[in-house]
Amino acid sequence: MSEHIVCSVDEVKSGRGKKVVIDGEEIALFKVDDEICAVSNMCPHQKFQKLHDGMFENGVVTCPMHGWSYDVRTGISTNASGKLKTYTTGIKNGKILLEIDPMNY
Ligand code: FES
Repeated sequence: MSEHIVCSVDEVKSGRGKKVVIDGEEIALFKVDDEICAVSNMCPHQKFQKLHDGMFENGVVTCPMHGWSYDVRTGISTNASGKLKTYTTGIKNGKILLEIDPMNY
């Protein structure tokens, strides 16, 4: 397990996602209440990496390509069969930390 500082908390705005890239993997960050949630930016439907650009409301992001939606707290789709990979996050001194399991790529 490795821990990465990815950006400051202020860079993740309410109501929209923020894309970060760790070791070549795109990850989308979202703010849900005071919690930061991190999921794979790749939609399982047709593998587009656009979730950070999707509409985001009440903890659910909708892929801008064809409308599959996901709860970013669990990664589970709310209207289809897919599931996003989720990441453990933390906050330290105003920075967002992300745990990456190299065995889980
Ligand atoms: S690629 Fe996301 S819904 Fe089709």
